[in-house]
Amino acid sequence: MRTKAHPATQIDVLFDAGKIADRNQELAAEISTGETENLLVIPVLKGSFVFAADLLRSLHHAGLAPEVDFFSLSSYGAGTESRGEVKILRDVESDVTGRNILLIDDILESGRTLAFAKDLLVARQAKSVRICVLLDKPDKRAVDIEADYVGFECPDLFVVGYGIDMAHSFRELPFVGVVRAD
Ligand code: IMP
Ligand code: MG
Repeated sequence: MRTKAHPATQIDVLFDAGKIADRNQELAAEISTGETENLLVIPVLKGSFVFAADLLRSLHHAGLAPEVDFFSLSSYGAGTESRGEVKILRDVESDVTGRNILLIDDILESGRTLAFAKDLLVARQAKSVRICVLLDKPDKRAVDIEADYVGFECPDLFVVGYGIDMAHSFRELPFVGVVRAD
């Protein structure tokens, strides 16, 4: 499809809204069978905000009542290649000591972002830290980390939509798609 704001850009749909909604319910059901006592859900901003908003409501329907706090982390800047260093733009406010944590992110790629976030929470004495990502891109993994819950395995392509951006554009798209370079 072509979007009004970017009429010259062709975006091929990879995961449509219905497929994502169905998968969110399945993920919530899976998550609800794990350790959920005193659960604190921490979406990693900004890319996960749409996924996290939908998944949180699915978690409610699955019977959970988590608290929610946010990390804002940056590893990409405005480009399309990870720079390898992770910066905390906004830290979690909650005391995570002794708590079960669910980290939510849009994409697990090199793994640096989530490894950084998980290590930090473990160092702050969280009881457990589980990871849920919408997309797993296993081809460029640089550190030894896997997600506990994965929406979809994603090919090694630059994707946008459903909160995921290219230089701050395309987050509003209700699906995940690939920007075609033509
Ligand atoms: P990594 O696992 O530390 O390499 O970083 C994953 C982060 O890189 C994601 O949370 C996104 O913010 C960003 N990222 C990775 N792949 C893509 C993509 O295809 N489109 C947009 N952002 C991406
Ligand atoms: Mg991110």
